[in-house]
Formats: sequence, C-alpha cells, structure tokens
Amino acid sequence: MSSPGSHPNIRQVFVAGAGIMGGGIAQVVAAAGVSVTLYDVNADAVRGTVEKIRWSLGKLHARGQLAEPVDTVLARVQPATDLAAAAHAQLVIEAVPERESLKRELFTRLDVLCPPEVLFASNTSAIPITQLASATRRPEQFCGLHFFNPVPMLALVEVVRGAATSDATIERATSFVRQIGKEPVLVRRDQTGFIVNRILGAAIGEAIRLLESGQADAADIDKAMRLGCAWKMGPLETADLAGLDVLLHMYEAMQQHEPNPVLAPPALLQQLVASGRLGRKSGGGFHPAARPTA
Ligand SMILES: NC(=O)c1ccc[n+]([C@@H]2O[C@H](COP(=O)([O-])OP(=O)(O)OC[C@H]3O[C@@H](n4cnc5c(N)ncnc54)[C@H](O)[C@@H]3O)[C@@H](O)[C@H]2O)c1
Repeated sequence: MSSPGSHPNIRQVFVAGAGIMGGGIAQVVAAAGVSVTLYDVNADAVRGTVEKIRWSLGKLHARGQLAEPVDTVLARVQPATDLAAAAHAQLVIEAVPERESLKRELFTRLDVLCPPEVLFASNTSAIPITQLASATRRPEQFCGLHFFNPVPMLALVEVVRGAATSDATIERATSFVRQIGKEPVLVRRDQTGFIVNRILGAAIGEAIRLLESGQADAADIDKAMRLGCAWKMGPLETADLAGLDVLLHMYEAMQQHEPNPVLAPPALLQQLVASGRLGRKSGGGFHPAARPTA
C-alpha cells in the first residue's frame, strides 16, 4: 500500500550484476517484500551471491532484525542469466563493474527489452549519470541510485539527477528508496563522486598528505578525528577497511571525470598499492592489520 501523496509501490525490480553491491541491493529489496530478479552474465556469481544473501539473512534473523523467515524472503529473489527477464520489471538497477562502455552497452540492450515506462537506475560511483542515460531513449526516466557497502547495514542512498532526469523520476526513485527502508538524499547536480565520495575522498586524501608530509603519524591522525570530531573511525582506518586499491580506483575515476587537485590520488596511496599493501584485506595499509587503540 502506498501512503497518501507517495507513489504506488514498486513490486518487481531487476538488478543487473550479482556482485557485492547487486547482492546487497537484491537482499534489501526482497526483505522489504518486493520481488527481485538478480541477473549476472556469470551463473556462478549468481549462485554464490544467493548463498551469501541466505547467510546474511540468517544472521539478521538470529538477531531479531528480520520480520519474516529467511526462506520467505529468499523466495522473492529470482536468479537469472537471461537479460530478457528485465522485461517484467518496473525498476532496473544496474550494478555491473565500473566501466562506462560496459554499462552503456547493457543499458542500450535493456532499453530495447523494457517497456518505455520502466525506470532505469545506475549504482555507479563516479561515472556521470547523464553519460549513461544517453545510451538509452529514456534519459528522463534515468537516475542514479548510489547505495553504500554493506548495503543491508548502511541506510543511505544517494538519488542522483542527470541532466535530463524528470521530476517524476526523482519522485518515484525517492519513494522507492523509502519503500525499501533506506534514507534518500538528493544529489541535484550530476558531478562525479556525488556527496559522500567527494567529502570522504577529500578528507582521506588530506589525511594521507598530512602523513606523507610528516605532520603526524597514522595513529595520531586517526585518533585526532575520532576524539576531536567524534568520527567512529579515523580517515586512514577507513581507507584500510575500504581497501587501498578500491580507494585509488575511486580517485582515478573521479579525476578522469573532473580534474580536481582536492580529489587527486595521493602519491603515498599510489606507492602503497604498487607495493601490494592494500589495507586490512592484504594484512596492512596505513596501519598494521590490527587496529590501533586510542
Ligand atoms: N563495492 C563498493 O563498495 C561500491 C559502493 C558503491 C557503488 N559501487 C558501484 O557498484 C557497481 C558494482 O560494484 P561491485 O563492487 O558490486 O562489483 P563486483 O565486481 O562485486 O560485481 C560486479 C558483477 O557484475 C557482473 N557483470 C559483469 N559484466 C556484466 C554484464 N554485462 N551484465 C551483468 N552482470 C555483469 C560480474 O560477473 C560481477 O558479478 C560499480 O559501478 C561500483 O562502482 C561499489
């Protein structure tokens, strides 16, 4: 049921790309009572991700954070390796790897398969929505829906307006975000990095440059932000957790779309990645694998 003034609820979603983000998005959509097709070119990826969703739902259920039995929620997730399944969806959310040509090609195929009223959204982190929308004949029904990892745990979704996105599309997308229990913020201009990655990228970049210049050591930079600004984690700990290679890729992608010294990849980050220090997943980054204490 939709509440007065809101849009009719979406009942069928198609998620393209069954990786970290696509799996998380499919999980929260299904947990909100909505049917979701989880599509990937790789059948093993779909199978593996459905098992990860089962495991994650099981954990939520054990903590009393899932209203229904795991199997009831999981039954709403239909695995697919055939793109034609998109024809039945009201909303398509794309979460394939961050390569513009790949995303554009997929959207062009989806545009042929899906009826004109179907809403298209991309989970891209850095590629301008306007450029992706131009691969379709429905740029006014195209927006960004930028989720955060891990999707089941983080409430935020950035709703991004492309140059041609209509008000109706923004309203439908925002209403959908609320329908699945997430919190929308509206990104009014289609600028690379949207809100969170720009601010986080600037802060982490400055922390790395302070470390590089000898202003303070890594433990004190993080301690300063935790105790001085009530951050849950310091910027360098955040970088280690995200993965230094992932972070470097984010800076490079933002730089490609908008040359900006504030968001330039810091030299020390490039050196660490080149030397194989990728953060917690590789046993160390700015900090050794064990977290520092305040
Ligand atoms: N990982 C994050 O923290 C994060 C956060 C926000 C946004 N994003 C964005 O989300 C998108 C996906 O990132 P991810 O980390 O989930 O990637 P991932 O590598 O974990 O998953 C991508 C999946 O897409 C599949 N795929 C490749 N080509 C395909 C095609 N043509 N059609 C269908 N599936 C295809 C792959 O097999 C893989 O399973 C990227 O645009 C990324 O920038 C990632």
